[in-house]
Amino acid sequence: MDRITTIAEQRAWSRARTRDGRRIGFVPTMGALHEGHLSLVAQARAAGADTVVASIFVNPTQFDNPEDLAKYPRTLEDDCRQLAAAGVDAVFLPTAQEMYPDGYCTFVEVVGPLTDKLCAVARPGHFRGVATVVNKLFSIVRPDVAVFGQKDLQQVLIISRMVRDLDLGIDIVVAPTVRDADGLAMSSRNRRLSAESRAKALGLPRGLELARRAFAAGEHTSLKLCENVYDQLLVHDGVEVDYCDVVDIHGFAEADTANDRCVLAAAVFVDGVRLIDHVALSGAAIPVSVED
Ligand code: PAJ
Repeated sequence: MDRITTIAEQRAWSRARTRDGRRIGFVPTMGALHEGHLSLVAQARAAGADTVVASIFVNPTQFDNPEDLAKYPRTLEDDCRQLAAAGVDAVFLPTAQEMYPDGYCTFVEVVGPLTDKLCAVARPGHFRGVATVVNKLFSIVRPDVAVFGQKDLQQVLIISRMVRDLDLGIDIVVAPTVRDADGLAMSSRNRRLSAESRAKALGLPRGLELARRAFAAGEHTSLKLCENVYDQLLVHDGVEVDYCDVVDIHGFAEADTANDRCVLAAAVFVDGVRLIDHVALSGAAIPVSVED
């Protein structure tokens, strides 16, 4: 696996592959890798990529909280071992100075219903930072296909929208959420949970599953569906629900009454660690391309 640290080198690497007729798959990450990230590499191959680039860059512009940025886990050597074992051909590891040199002042912002609710409210500027860095990474790596996890549902919908709106011509693949055996969605932040905190955090996937069952049994009032999540979590000290909302993924409007197109999405703080998860109430997979 090639390790690439400069934009010029990554551009040359990609250009050479494209000239050879290769289809480049791309998996952007912030490192602290787990099986969820590695599943994206397999999805890139499944989507027809015959060469795969991953990136590891803890992007400062998407952190609204400097403490969160400072605490973000960094496990570079272990990450590179895992990516090489997963068959990644190159890993792009730019520094913050390489990506945002002195004088940097251009940002990409998706506006409208995708960025006025859920994580966008609690984390002002977060998705602007994500859209900006992903746009930059796309123009450096020049992939044919890029893979994102459904776990960060709002993020992948925003990126899909940006790709369409800016005619970037990159296929976006949405990969299913990989979970640990106990049901908790894998996340780099899970490393910060003690055993006791983790036990509390399990209320999130449990509450979501109970909400899905309640929907299947005929409960369509969003507030009632959300109560399943609150009931599982708020019995514990140190747990705060940041948001719990039912959203129609077509158009991304909040829905007081849920239907088959809706997801129930929640963000919680468990002993100071922020976790997100969601469930499609109909139990169906989220469509890869969400048309509004
Ligand atoms: P990061 O949190 O490292 O996630 C990288 C990719 O892995 C994202 O597409 C995310 O949705 C996916 N992912 C995380 N946990 C997953 C899981 N349990 N199952 C499946 N996929 C999972 O998301 C980011 O980084 C950044 O915002 C980034 C897009 C790299 C821009 O900086």
